[in-house]
Amino acid sequence: MKYIKTCYDFPMNICVTGASKGLGRELCKELLKAGHSVWGVARSRAAEFCGSESPGELNRFHYTQCDVADSVSIGRWMQEMQQAKFHPDVIILNAAIQHNDLGSTFDAAAAAETINVNLAGSLHCISAFLPQLQARKHGQIIAITSTIKWRPSRRSAGYAASKAGLSMAMRSLRLKYGTKALRFREVCFGPLQTSMWEGKQSLLIPSPDKAAARVASFLTGNRDTLCYPFLSTWLLRLSHWLPDSLFTAISNHLLLK
Ligand SMILES: NC(=O)c1ccc[n+]([C@@H]2O[C@H](COP(=O)([O-])OP(=O)(O)OC[C@H]3O[C@@H](n4cnc5c(N)ncnc54)[C@H](OP(=O)(O)O)[C@@H]3O)[C@@H](O)[C@H]2O)c1
Repeated sequence: MKYIKTCYDFPMNICVTGASKGLGRELCKELLKAGHSVWGVARSRAAEFCGSESPGELNRFHYTQCDVADSVSIGRWMQEMQQAKFHPDVIILNAAIQHNDLGSTFDAAAAAETINVNLAGSLHCISAFLPQLQARKHGQIIAITSTIKWRPSRRSAGYAASKAGLSMAMRSLRLKYGTKALRFREVCFGPLQTSMWEGKQSLLIPSPDKAAARVASFLTGNRDTLCYPFLSTWLLRLSHWLPDSLFTAISNHLLLK
């Protein structure tokens, strides 16, 4: 992975959910390279994480096997961090699943599971971290959302609902508790080349390492929301006047295999 140099104010303690693969794994690598300490979680066993190979970086990397949809599992993760005196400055809520719930008929159980991980799981994490961030009067929580929050999906009603819900939850939290030092932020992605993306490879679809470098540079910026990549997310917002059916037909033609 090519390292894109970014400007960080100081080394921070950063938690990343969904650290075992895709964007989350690239984020861990990028943040470690920038000198931060990183605590990653995912359901996979720690041994399956194959991120940075530099011993210096690995010393700053911690990993807990944790299911964000399970509050007991989150509690164990919090305890491990407390014992290690790891006080997070930034929490990146990246863990997500996308079940196909719109088959020949609607699969409500699959939709509920997606919402349970992506939305309820993120909210469980926020409620676990918020008291300590509030006590320290400092920190940032960054939710990873998707352009699907603006347009419905033909594949997963649960995924679209979870990302729209997470985005609105972050805005509500920001409104109520946000200060200059305690921030509730969002990174809204268009499609990325990870296993979650089932469409074509295209120049409009960045690799997860490029997306991770952009999230890393966003940490020290002032904006509450980042939409990435600029072109595809901007085109999508411009097309808001198109009916959903027409928009979906065009984007399927351009992006689906
Ligand atoms: N790929 C895209 O096209 C795209 C577009 C827009 C937004 N996004 C967003 O970007 C983020 C990263 O997606 P990705 O493409 O990197 O997906 P991915 O490759 O499928 O990775 C998802 C990560 O989440 C973890 N995870 C899933 N369920 C979990 C749970 N219950 N508890 C803890 N960890 C869990 C997975 O690890 P385990 O399986 O080991 O738990 C994995 O590390 C997601 O929020 C996604 O919605 C992706």
